[in-house]
Amino acid sequence: MHTVHKTPAVTAAAKKTRDLTADLLVVPVFEEDDLADEPNLDRASGGEYAAARHRREFLGKPFEQLLVPIVESGWGSRRALFVGTGARHECTTEQLRRVATIGGLVARQHRFTSLAVAARPLDRVVNDAALQSLTEGVVLANYEGMSYKTSGQETAFLERVVIRIPDAAAAALERGRVLGECTNMARELSNEPGNVLTPRAFADRASKIAKEAGLGIEVLDEKQIAALNMGLLLGVARGSEQPPRLIVLRHEPKKAAKGIVLALVGKGITFDTGGISIKPSDNMDKMKDDMSGGAAVLCAMAALSRLNAPVRCIGVIPTTENMPGGRAMKPGDILTSAEGKTVEVLNTDAEGRLILGDALWYARKLGATHLVDIATLTGACVVALGKTTSGLFGRPDPWVDSVKVASDRAGDRSWPMPIFDDYKDLLKSEIADFTNTGGRAGGAISAALFIKEFVGELPWVHMDIAGTAWAEEAKPYQPKGATGVGVRTLAELALDVDAWVTLK
Ligand code: BES
Ligand code: MN
Ligand code: ZN
Repeated sequence: MHTVHKTPAVTAAAKKTRDLTADLLVVPVFEEDDLADEPNLDRASGGEYAAARHRREFLGKPFEQLLVPIVESGWGSRRALFVGTGARHECTTEQLRRVATIGGLVARQHRFTSLAVAARPLDRVVNDAALQSLTEGVVLANYEGMSYKTSGQETAFLERVVIRIPDAAAAALERGRVLGECTNMARELSNEPGNVLTPRAFADRASKIAKEAGLGIEVLDEKQIAALNMGLLLGVARGSEQPPRLIVLRHEPKKAAKGIVLALVGKGITFDTGGISIKPSDNMDKMKDDMSGGAAVLCAMAALSRLNAPVRCIGVIPTTENMPGGRAMKPGDILTSAEGKTVEVLNTDAEGRLILGDALWYARKLGATHLVDIATLTGACVVALGKTTSGLFGRPDPWVDSVKVASDRAGDRSWPMPIFDDYKDLLKSEIADFTNTGGRAGGAISAALFIKEFVGELPWVHMDIAGTAWAEEAKPYQPKGATGVGVRTLAELALDVDAWVTLK
């Protein structure tokens, strides 16, 4: 397999634009931007920039691009790329992140290996946040989809990036670099095929990533899982030749918020055939990404450990295949969870909620005080919110809000969904405590209500990333395939513990 991502050396500098030395100089430009503070830039481009503006070829609308040579001598860069950034007063960190990714991707298309970004004065975004998101953006650009091709060239990666920005803290740059890199790690895991990333392989990768990040890790095998009576996880795993694993990660910083243990729980289905309730063959290959929630938890834990988040965290990743083997669970089967609750399995394709039920119980057993789970859980969530926004479910509201704020900062779009008790009827079973399927109407909500059965009284948020984990098509600012959604949200949440503990 080829290298799929590389983290460039990123620095921040307060130099003049002409002194930024790189193969490509990226200049984000707002619609109303007259570049009055860059009087020489147009002349350096031989008047190309002003001409394009004048001819209305380039208006500064979001993600427009204008590549011009720098013809004047004495400039450190050979080419300039103007990237439309929209209205200055509407500019967000997400917009800056995307603009930086565009700059990085265009540079790589031209096999440039060094990049300079000349940040513009901003209205709404403070310099630290701008530096962090620009850094994330360029690091995210240095990702190439998985390739097992045996011929063809290795792709070009950015080696060196300099960001020109006034008065931003070095810590912001480091945060951006780590969050970008850990998002790329999650993309790599989710893009791996099911035969490569089996539950055991996932656990092995987790061990490696955990050690490098200074995290504690413990991997429970099928015997230990059985000893804990995790009937839901084992029920799903029965149909597969591959044994399941339960990955447990620990971040225990010296300086930690008192009395708080944040537990992150991620769905780790390395391949979802649907089991006996088998899925149609069309697009079934996409179900190799059904461990994206688990990858998000693993890589967010790596990020928050490397950035030394001031809160104790545990990561719990139940991982198994969902296969229709001879011993597979069948529709109508009754499973007993580790907590003792019984479930009538009406559809073996609703497997994510099953493994999460036992994992959330385990997180509570390990002392969690706050829960967040993340999962490619329901097609219904994709119907409700589309492919760019994750669903947020949970309670109490302030805890859901904390996750929403973290997701906004991360540029992972999410939106709150209701979990009114009325929906509980959907899970009524004749012979068990509840069923594992609530039907098509409100399908994302009944799935969340199933999970709620396993969170006790703790503050809990469930993030459904079924629509957002995989990009069907490339965008100017995003490669096709796994997106790494959730990594930055979960890490930002832990890093911002001081803001949410006051909510208690
Ligand atoms: N992994 C799927 C959900 C999914 C669907 C993710 C499409 C990404 C794209 C999940 O395990 C599943 O199969 N859910 C079922 C639940 C149903 C049987 C109640 C679904 O959404 O169809
Ligand atoms: Mn399924
Ligand atoms: Zn699934």
